Amino acid sequence: MMTTFDPPADTLPDLASGNIVSPPVPAYRSSSLPDIDYDAHPAYGGILPAATLSERFHALRVFAKSFAFVTIRRIVDYENMPLLSKEAGGGHLNLSSATRYLTMFASIRAQRFLRTLIGTRRAAKPTNETLFQRMKSDGVACMTLSPEEMENIRQVIAPCFAHLDERRAAIPVERRKFDDNVYWCTRSRESKVFETIEEVFRRHGITDVASAYLGRPVRVKHVNPQINDDDYTFWKKQFADTDVPDPWSTYLHIDATYGMLKCALYIHDIGPDGGPFCYVRGSHRIKVGWFEGMIRRTNDFCGFSGRKPEARKKFMALPRMLRKKADFGADVLDDSAASKSVREGHFAATSNYGNCVLFDGHGIHRGGMVNKGERRCIFVLLAEV
Ligand SMILES: [Fe+2]
Repeated sequence: MMTTFDPPADTLPDLASGNIVSPPVPAYRSSSLPDIDYDAHPAYGGILPAATLSERFHALRVFAKSFAFVTIRRIVDYENMPLLSKEAGGGHLNLSSATRYLTMFASIRAQRFLRTLIGTRRAAKPTNETLFQRMKSDGVACMTLSPEEMENIRQVIAPCFAHLDERRAAIPVERRKFDDNVYWCTRSRESKVFETIEEVFRRHGITDVASAYLGRPVRVKHVNPQINDDDYTFWKKQFADTDVPDPWSTYLHIDATYGMLKCALYIHDIGPDGGPFCYVRGSHRIKVGWFEGMIRRTNDFCGFSGRKPEARKKFMALPRMLRKKADFGADVLDDSAASKSVREGHFAATSNYGNCVLFDGHGIHRGGMVNKGERRCIFVLLAEV
């Protein structure tokens, strides 16, 4: 199903440490995300009955509530704060966790403001100019860490994967959720992991580049080992209640996050069927306005982006201008112009491109769609801490 542009063996790029491989595809030409005509789509307007007035009213009410919530999260820069539940020892939202969060939020904002005032809250100067230029032009850069560096990372991360294996073994495949496949390292518990990755990133200028790219000081914020296997086929049978097949573009999405870059570290070889990270070259330049971005995030947040019949009905009950998703890939029909233009710039970053993929999640991407075997990968999030 997946189109890969895996370089043939006789033209393998140079995978020497630090080398950055250029993907053999043109950059995305459009200046916007695919425009999808949901009224004409065979799994939406083409099959669902028109929404009643009360369904429209209900959908709009849910949307408005979620929109307000997503907007507040955006205004308080929620995603660039430490995760309360995972790092600050909090659990569900209650008065004490809310107070703790507000105190922490106020203190972080005050510190940032102070550092801005005295001029120490600055973006770094990129030491790896090649990487910086590649990120600016493509939104993605595939590079190679040396075998020794990868081995060091593999060793310090091994206990985390062991935890993950144990947890996954206890949950039957059909009940495994996305979060069950991800382990959250913390600085206090896994300090060696952070130290090792930060040292490697410093050596290759990755952290500096992320800082210069984002225009703010940046550190390694999260390290998430992740396991995907061919049993976990979240991207298949998107419209199971219809005879609409999964399109080529399934699972292509933009991240709902902002102010951060991500980096995928391949701790073993990943081929075309092993769930490589895929990116549409240059798609990070797409202009998604503030309001449009919030609409897309809101639909993903409140579940209207889902593809079960109930979610699709609610989505179709929204006014046309609100029918936009961050997770749009499965809705792009194969014979559409949008599909063609996305496909043009799409490449699968198999191990032939390197073992370290730095990317801006604002561009169109996907990954972890394993057709054969198992993929073990580490996602590193670079953001202001
Ligand atoms: Fe993503």
